[in-house]
Amino acid sequence: MDAETFRRNGHALVDWIAEYLNHPEHYPVLSRNRPGEVRDALPDKPPERGVAFEEIFRDFERVIVPGITHWNHPGFFGYFAISGSAPGILAEFLTAALNVQAMLWRTSPSATELEEVTLGWLRQLLGLPDSFEAVIYDTASIASLHALAAARHHVVPNVRLQGLSGPGNVGPLRVYASEHAHSSIDKALITLGLGQESLCKIPVDSEFRMLPDALRDAIRSDRDNGVTPVAIVATVGTTSTTSVDPVVSISEISVNEGIWLHVDAAYAGAAALVPDTRYVLEGCAHADSLVVNPHKWLFTPFDLSAFYCRHMDVVRAAFSLTPDYLDTPEAGQVKNLMDTGVQLGRRFRALKLWAVIRYFGSDGLRERIAEHMRLAQIFSKWVDESSYFERAAPVPLSVVCFRAHGSDNDSTTDDLNMRLLTRVNSSGEVFLSHTRLNGRYTIRLAIGHVRTTEAHVRRAWELLNEARREIGE
Ligand SMILES: Cc1ncc(COP(=O)(O)O)c(C=O)c1O
Repeated sequence: MDAETFRRNGHALVDWIAEYLNHPEHYPVLSRNRPGEVRDALPDKPPERGVAFEEIFRDFERVIVPGITHWNHPGFFGYFAISGSAPGILAEFLTAALNVQAMLWRTSPSATELEEVTLGWLRQLLGLPDSFEAVIYDTASIASLHALAAARHHVVPNVRLQGLSGPGNVGPLRVYASEHAHSSIDKALITLGLGQESLCKIPVDSEFRMLPDALRDAIRSDRDNGVTPVAIVATVGTTSTTSVDPVVSISEISVNEGIWLHVDAAYAGAAALVPDTRYVLEGCAHADSLVVNPHKWLFTPFDLSAFYCRHMDVVRAAFSLTPDYLDTPEAGQVKNLMDTGVQLGRRFRALKLWAVIRYFGSDGLRERIAEHMRLAQIFSKWVDESSYFERAAPVPLSVVCFRAHGSDNDSTTDDLNMRLLTRVNSSGEVFLSHTRLNGRYTIRLAIGHVRTTEAHVRRAWELLNEARREIGE
């Protein structure tokens, strides 16, 4: 592609993106595609001849866009709402143009050093001490996998050479997390060969927070039975309700017992930027590792997960391996990112986080996160005052869990709420998702998009009430 053609297409693309970000309401938030629709609209054989980019772009609009669920829409309230903010999108454009592969310091010193500086800024914003070293992974799932691999290496140092079944292995191993911990912890244990049954799910209190006494009892009972604890995972902002485990008490247990503490603050870590909710990371200074996802609530385009660790030497001991062809003269004086994990190749993700933090500034980030929490409180109040709906969990941050009242029969009420959600989501104006709390179907409104305003939240509430009236019961 010659420079002139690139410029013409690039300008058209930027115009399209600017229009998209300005008028997302032109699109239904949740894609209305049927399964197979995109596949059927595309040839099943690769093209023999290349075509102009204009033609590819026409098909992008015609075939691909209808199959998009618009995460970058301010009416997106599902799962954890996220934002590809404009400065982040522009930085991603540059990242793609440079096509840096940041495995080694020399394969782009800027990528390695900007990652260190930017994660240092974020660490300060989170209020974590400088004993934490940091690295960027793609997702929190991968960050937690590395945390647990490091914890496993700490307990079974010969695992790297001989695997878990090697001579001198320590017998059954255990990881502890609340019953509301994210499924990525289960998956990490599957991947690490500990097995899903090595996860001990600790019960929670009535507000869905891990019970430290139950944790202490479980560890004691395991030790009595010859089971070796590997790690405790505390969740700051659980996926269903955003409950915050009592990390102060949990970290005391981890220190006293000498067990690695990993904190999954994938969503809620960002709340520590706001003075009123700084408490969410209380006790985390004593954790061994912690993950927070700027791609969740820090307006950074997907994907970027920040992993903080007080023993990155253990992560390196678990993973570094330098074949001859990757040896460099400066090894030993610089960080080579390939040493801190499974993957060799790494995207230049730091550029977008750097752009986001600089563009919004700490105050701008703080204001937006605080505003999302204010909106959640408003919505929560509407729910509390409504005769149609009830709240299903406390609202410490920016997610509201609620359900419509139904009959005394739980399954009829579940069914009513499912139908409500389907109807509201089919409006195309908003998208909400669900969870189950104490076995009961529960609707979640998650606020996190940078352009979400009170008007969007109010519209979601109107649609829910309209749907409730139309469905009756
Ligand atoms: C608490 C928590 N941890 C981990 C994850 C996994 O995040 P990722 O998609 O970055 O792997 C999620 C996803 O929502 C989450 O809510």
